[in-house]
Amino acid sequence: MRDFELNLTPEQESKRQYEYMEKAKELVFAKEKELGRKLTFSVVTFGCQMNARDSEKLVGILTEMGYVEVEDEHADFVVYNTCTVRENADNKVWGRLGYLQNYKKKNPHMIIGLCGCMMQETGVIEKLKKSYKYVNLIFGTHNIYKFAELVYRCLSTDKQVIDVWKENDKIVEDLPIKRKFKFKSGVNIMFGCNNFCSYCIVPYVRGREKSREPKDIIREIEGLVADGVCEVMLLGQNVNSYGKNLENPMTFANLLREINKIEGLKRIRFMTSHPKDLSDDLILAMKECDKVCGHMHLPLQSGSSRILKIMNRHYDKEKYLDIVRKLRETIPDIAITTDIIVGFPGETEEDFQETLNVVKEVEYDSAFTFIYSKRTGTPAATMDNQVPPDVVKERFNRLLKEVQEISAKKAKSLEGKVVPVLVESLNDHDDSLVTGRLENNLVVHFKGTKDMIGNIYNVKLEESKGFYFLGGLA
Ligand code: SAH
Ligand code: SF4
Ligand code: F3S
Repeated sequence: MRDFELNLTPEQESKRQYEYMEKAKELVFAKEKELGRKLTFSVVTFGCQMNARDSEKLVGILTEMGYVEVEDEHADFVVYNTCTVRENADNKVWGRLGYLQNYKKKNPHMIIGLCGCMMQETGVIEKLKKSYKYVNLIFGTHNIYKFAELVYRCLSTDKQVIDVWKENDKIVEDLPIKRKFKFKSGVNIMFGCNNFCSYCIVPYVRGREKSREPKDIIREIEGLVADGVCEVMLLGQNVNSYGKNLENPMTFANLLREINKIEGLKRIRFMTSHPKDLSDDLILAMKECDKVCGHMHLPLQSGSSRILKIMNRHYDKEKYLDIVRKLRETIPDIAITTDIIVGFPGETEEDFQETLNVVKEVEYDSAFTFIYSKRTGTPAATMDNQVPPDVVKERFNRLLKEVQEISAKKAKSLEGKVVPVLVESLNDHDDSLVTGRLENNLVVHFKGTKDMIGNIYNVKLEESKGFYFLGGLA
């Protein structure tokens, strides 16, 4: 089934996909005539920014085929782009599929598609084949560039179309993408992950790390800027190891320096930075590059060096705190955010206290906190010292309280300051206000007009409301 056999170059592959879009367009048009209306679609995204960006690719292709996007799932074509990082992500999808089945009973011509990380997990395809026959199209993370062809196949048959690959080393550029936001965009700089943190399923479902060529990244960003984008978020599971395997290796720090030169681009963000590969040169590059936001998302996962070792994270508490110190020395106002897992197998109260200590010491601007979720196939899933759920829950609540108090305090400390804000939209509730973002990603509402959208202004943060500010032009 794999079209590897065709041995096409990425350029030929992209051309072939455009041909499928044309062919699908004809089928969509015929169906439109039959129904006397446009065909609609909805792409529902679960999971991280990578998935959000992938969904924009799906939306681009469906739009190109003549489908019209609608907000809810009462559509002719529904795609769930799934996540499987934690068990509850999986459960959400199974639940929503049940609901869609009922809707499809009343609308039999409807097409249901599933893709994303969950499709790469062992057992899922078998389950779908056996008990979810009403799902029409199933594909994975490695062949998303073949979406046009798969849709065409789906429109031409009544059978379930399944195409999930284990690996792929080809990066196909230049397919249609429809952005969710006019002024900002995610940009993949790499795919996959080689780190195999012992709790994490991502390397198994996203495959090995592959970096995009700098020239392709820069060309994409230049195109985005020409189309009105002023902020990009560079995406990778570990951006700090960007470029190592390119024919002409390039560091992430130097990639930032190159992107910083792009005229018309105003802000550069990136995620995620793995502490083990964070270089001093990156910190310097962040300082040098005026467009790079003063924000570092630096997942801690645990504050206990003992647990970090079993997590296979390749840094300890001291190294982590050392990076934080260097960041703050070099970029004094930098915002630091993190991810923390509570209840990793064998975590003791002492280990947890270490995490709390780091949280208190670093004083994160915000932190995503997760309860450890056992993922079949990862090394941690076979450890026999899982922490009892009530103990985990109690620790989680203590951590959350600490994190929230610190975030509120940090936000409060910004009151009265004047900071650069990128205006993103008119305020949802009051159109005499505009809504913008600080470099640390927090939101501020202030008096303004529509023409300010997409520009950066100095804004005085008058009042902190916890997760957002009220302010005024300075
Ligand atoms: N590549 C990024 C993270 C991707 S997953 C990094 O290395 O930081 C996003 C977050 O989900 C992780 O940072 C981790 O905190 C959390 N996570 C991953 N696997 C998990 C699991 N099995 N249980 C709970 N949280 C998990
Ligand atoms: Fe998962 Fe670790 Fe890779 Fe992040 S770096 S995606 S946590 S394996
Ligand atoms: Fe989820 Fe896949 Fe992202 S598992 S977190 S959508 S890489």
